[in-house]
Amino acid sequence: MDFNLTEEHLAVREAARDFAEKELLPGVIERDNEQRFPKEQVKMMGELGFMGMMVDPKYGGGGMDTVSYVLAMEEISKIDASASVSMSVNNSLVCWGIEKFGSEEQKQKYLPRLSSGEVIGAFCLSEPEAGSDATSQRTTAEDKGDHYLLNGTKNWITNGNSASIYLVMAQTHPELKHKGINCLIVEREMEGFVVGKKEDKMGIRGSDTHSLMFTDVKVPKENRIGEDGFGFTFAMNTLNGGRIGIGAQALGIAAGALERSVAYAKERKAFGKEIAKHQAIQFKLADMATKVEASRMLLLKAARLKDEGKDYGEASAMAKLFASEAAMHNATEAVQIHGGYGYVKEYHVERMMRDAKITQIYEGTSEIQRIVISRGLLK
Ligand code: CAA
Repeated sequence: MDFNLTEEHLAVREAARDFAEKELLPGVIERDNEQRFPKEQVKMMGELGFMGMMVDPKYGGGGMDTVSYVLAMEEISKIDASASVSMSVNNSLVCWGIEKFGSEEQKQKYLPRLSSGEVIGAFCLSEPEAGSDATSQRTTAEDKGDHYLLNGTKNWITNGNSASIYLVMAQTHPELKHKGINCLIVEREMEGFVVGKKEDKMGIRGSDTHSLMFTDVKVPKENRIGEDGFGFTFAMNTLNGGRIGIGAQALGIAAGALERSVAYAKERKAFGKEIAKHQAIQFKLADMATKVEASRMLLLKAARLKDEGKDYGEASAMAKLFASEAAMHNATEAVQIHGGYGYVKEYHVERMMRDAKITQIYEGTSEIQRIVISRGLLK
């Protein structure tokens, strides 16, 4: 597989890095402390083309490939994983889901606004009793002829309060189990839709994660994505790509932790020399760099497979599994290398350690990735 990056890829990476350093780095610690969503910054990301990177230009998107998306996600996640999860959900789950499976009317109606950053989207699958076990949807979408009546609760929804457009999975035909689920496009203004409690999280504290409540929300039939009962297949296929986005977020945290550790190790002195001259530190840095490189290769492979129209479900699960473990390892080692400084907020690595953990949980825990990979092997 060819991993050479084009001039265009390099330019996208440069632009993302530049944006992250200039616009996201100042204030990232305060937003984390205050649990404040990077509203203005995410708007700018839309204006710069980072919110609908892969969407066809005829719907207002950037028309870029998945490799470009991975490169941009890595750079933005190095600095601010709260901003990048918003970007990932909007690109991989919401825009891609609508573009791949939506009707022409849905694409024209929603994609230009979602791609430009005018609005952002949320993907609503998880429920109080259906996290990993996603087939057990309790939210219902009762068929009322020209509309669905939506009732239920969704939990841990990224962009929960900042979004305007929500892709909501709900059960229409319980007797058909997962084949009876539909995906409905819900607009924020629809009557009966309420944004609930904001989660007080360990990490990605700048990202707004909420529960959502739906009480007799009338959703027009034309807002259903795909055929009746397509919702679970929609969610699984969309998550395959979402795992590339979150894998790239994890890669960014792993790479950011390494960059900060290298810089610190060259500067900090102990026992009469820079700590970088101690083998104990060198070994840590070498392991961290190897994990970054391996994560990047797995992610570029999954992205290339997707761009080539090949099956990428297992490749994306492997990339997410490996990169999220690399993120946790590297962020923890970065704190260790920084010593006492690593344990305080000013040096950023303690935030990275808290942020890294979620990459092993959302869009499928590490255990779910192992299920996806092993099912592919054993089928
Ligand atoms: N790609 C495509 N199809 C898939 C698939 C995949 N990766 N995984 C399962 N499917 C299909 C199966 O082929 C099957 O289809 P058929 O019935 O047509 O044959 C169907 O889905 C049901 O699959 P299973 O019988 O295997 O169902 P299961 O209950 O045993 O397991 C699961 C399914 C893989 C565990 C699934 O429930 C899953 O992926 N769970 C994790 C859900 C998840 O990732 N949630 C994250 C929420 S979104 C989020 O976090 C966003 C955010 O805010 C950041």
